[in-house]
Amino acid sequence: MSKGFDQLTVLDHPLVQHKMSILRNKNTDKKMFTELVNEITMLEVYEATRALPLEDCQVETPLATMTGKCLKGETPVIVPILRAGLGMVEGMTELIPNCRVGFLGMYRDEETFQPVPYYAKFPDNMGSSPIFVLDPMLATGGSASAGISFIKEQGGRDIVMTCIVAARPGVERLLDEHPDIRIYAAAFDEELTPNAYITPGLGDAGDRLFGTI
Ligand code: PRP
Ligand code: URA
Repeated sequence: MSKGFDQLTVLDHPLVQHKMSILRNKNTDKKMFTELVNEITMLEVYEATRALPLEDCQVETPLATMTGKCLKGETPVIVPILRAGLGMVEGMTELIPNCRVGFLGMYRDEETFQPVPYYAKFPDNMGSSPIFVLDPMLATGGSASAGISFIKEQGGRDIVMTCIVAARPGVERLLDEHPDIRIYAAAFDEELTPNAYITPGLGDAGDRLFGTI
């Protein structure tokens, strides 16, 4: 589903929709919440990596030698936006175990809703790697947009934003400021509250993942 945005993919798989309903439930506890973020991320990576290039490679099975397909090009890089993006790292690394990991620390000022960067550490030479930015919540889009600008300053080019819930205002802003990226989400919500929370959303993803409520 694209919800009218060419560069947005919202997963419509029944398993994803079912897991999203449990994730959104306010009574879902921390353990279950963390496991679901992990599982939903895995299902999302499966879709988001569909366009990775392949090349022929020789494989020796117990019976014969055959030409198989192997991933081609630079190892993918994942960049979780701290804190909540950390909850998506395991799901990514389960499917892409050799990926390189960068970190971007950014929190949203609770009064201005502006992103405040506080930490950055990236792998060298990201220029030719596919880069997957991880953050479960795309609300106003401020954090993701600032994070992606930062990654581009470090040479990043081939960038995919991977989130759990994307809100319309965040998608509009992100694609306006970075028309060259793609966005993958497990759910799409239309609105934000006056406090810039996604509604119906799932609440504060970082607090629910790390038990700081
Ligand atoms: C949340 C979320 C995003 C940001 C989304 O982080 O994980 O990074 O808000 O909002 P935006 O699209 O309006 O910028 P938060 O500031 O709560 O920090 P945390 O991850 O440390 O909990
Ligand atoms: N950050 C969250 O964790 N949830 C929201 O709804 C918005 C920003």
